[in-house]
Amino acid sequence: MSGGEQSRAVREMFGAIAEKYDVMNSIMSLGLDRHWRRQAVQTARIRPGDRVADICCGTGQLTLAARAAAGRSGEVVGLDFSADMLRVAAANIEAAGRRAQRDPEAGTDNIRFVRGDARELPFATADFDAVLVGWGLRNVPDRERVVREMRRIVKPGGRVVSLDMGQPRLPGLSAVYWPLFSLAVPFLGQWCAGKKAREYRYLYESAREFLPQWELADLFRRCGLVGTGALDLVGGAVAVVYGEKSPRYPGD
Ligand SMILES: C[S@@+](CC[C@H](N)C(=O)[O-])C[C@H]1O[C@@H](n2cnc3c(N)ncnc32)[C@H](O)[C@@H]1O
Repeated sequence: MSGGEQSRAVREMFGAIAEKYDVMNSIMSLGLDRHWRRQAVQTARIRPGDRVADICCGTGQLTLAARAAAGRSGEVVGLDFSADMLRVAAANIEAAGRRAQRDPEAGTDNIRFVRGDARELPFATADFDAVLVGWGLRNVPDRERVVREMRRIVKPGGRVVSLDMGQPRLPGLSAVYWPLFSLAVPFLGQWCAGKKAREYRYLYESAREFLPQWELADLFRRCGLVGTGALDLVGGAVAVVYGEKSPRYPGD
């Protein structure tokens, strides 16, 4: 499959599961996904007043977690190429806004969504204090290009952070983890989302084939980020990978 064909297939796949994506995520992560997102936001060192980009934002859950850290004076921009995922994101933000009516700091104003491609970000250079991507890099055929784009749009001294599946590093965990994952994900997909197992098979395969967290940290370094590293969650089955644009950029 060419890069363009793969992108189209990924967009259609997420369009097909958009409505059930959040509930599936919560079930598959046993409700831990919220905690993982908070970890990613903490790692990005987002402060009140920051301007943050959430690339491949999907249904906007990481966007909301970033907004909680950036506060009322901050701004968060979510970008995705799936109109269906963005529609669910808009509904999620509206619902969160109603819940937060009495607490402006927890509110949802200053969140904006943009439809676009992660490989060619429609943002100016050094536009953001932090740039996030959640379960996005494994879906793009040319992830080096996306990481370079993320580096371009972050300010010198700002962090680029990816939250995604990792390779379990806890002894014994990987022996049971992958077989369980390969059975559970298509089964849950069929049961919960009423979809053919194909979409969920893709989620398993893309996770299985994704770079281990230490290799993704290397890729961040190759893309010009400094101070790179990986933080293992649940024994490495999920990982937060980070890097910083040198404060001395462009001299580096
Ligand atoms: C697994 S979902 C992750 C959603 C969200 N970040 C989260 O934390 O749950 C991956 C998202 O990446 C989007 N995506 C994949 N490739 C993309 C690309 N090249 N440009 C923009 N969005 C892309 C898909 O449409 C999908 O919404």
